[in-house]
Amino acid sequence: MTEWFEDESLWIETYPYMFSPSRIAAAEEEVEPLLRLVGIEPQSILDLCCGPGRFAIPLARRGYRVTGVDRTAFFLDKARERAAAANVEVEWVQEDMRTFARPCAFDLALSMFTSFGYFEDKDEDLRVLQNAFESLRPGGALVMDVVGKERLARSFQPTSSRKYADGSVVIDRREVLDDWTRIRMEWTIIRGNDVRVYTVHHTVYSGQELKDRFTAAGFADVKLYGSIDGAPYGLEADRLIVVGRKLAP
Ligand SMILES: C[S@@+](CC[C@H](N)C(=O)[O-])C[C@H]1O[C@@H](n2cnc3c(N)ncnc32)[C@H](O)[C@@H]1O
Repeated sequence: MTEWFEDESLWIETYPYMFSPSRIAAAEEEVEPLLRLVGIEPQSILDLCCGPGRFAIPLARRGYRVTGVDRTAFFLDKARERAAAANVEVEWVQEDMRTFARPCAFDLALSMFTSFGYFEDKDEDLRVLQNAFESLRPGGALVMDVVGKERLARSFQPTSSRKYADGSVVIDRREVLDDWTRIRMEWTIIRGNDVRVYTVHHTVYSGQELKDRFTAAGFADVKLYGSIDGAPYGLEADRLIVVGRKLAP
């Protein structure tokens, strides 16, 4: 059975909304705070589920050796085009996050913009963390950015809609499933007479649940933040940022 994230048309149709110029620009701004937060000077960086290279490209521009991994060919094509325009070299790998592992190859691994929790079987989420752990050198760190369960519960809206400058409208319907472990989102994209509906579902982790998962995968000194600037993961937090480290033996 195909899983929702294997449907390339979903990523193609939602690209203009998910990766607006302002969202691409936001990643450029987040690179420096991200490096400060993690506090290491990496040689090589893994951008897991890199999409169109929002983080991989600005990091490569700063001179880091970057590998971007994603399963969606459409995104890797976009990423290649954007890297060529920026005149930077990035290694792009088309692979599933459940299988990609390159032992002791990276000092820093990233999983940004809610690229985690996609699998019904939560052991597969753990496998992704174990792969990232295995791919890090001792002293390296994984940084993950998702929306935490606490934030979602605080501001949950079953339905919302957005109108875009080109006249298109996107309606989001959200449903909490399985005792607050999964969320199902239905995106309806209306462009003139063209209507497309996509359904996405993923696991939502609380801060503590994600911390426990990191620890189960081998990470130590796992810290939670509410923003990439290192704000506390408190009531006001918009994001859940997790930093886990692979300690030197
Ligand atoms: C919300 S986007 C985030 C992209 C990027 N991290 C960013 O910050 O812009 C999620 C990405 O995960 C990728 N993805 C989804 N399922 C995947 C899987 N099983 N293995 C690898 N990549 C996957 C998608 O192709 C998409 O690029």
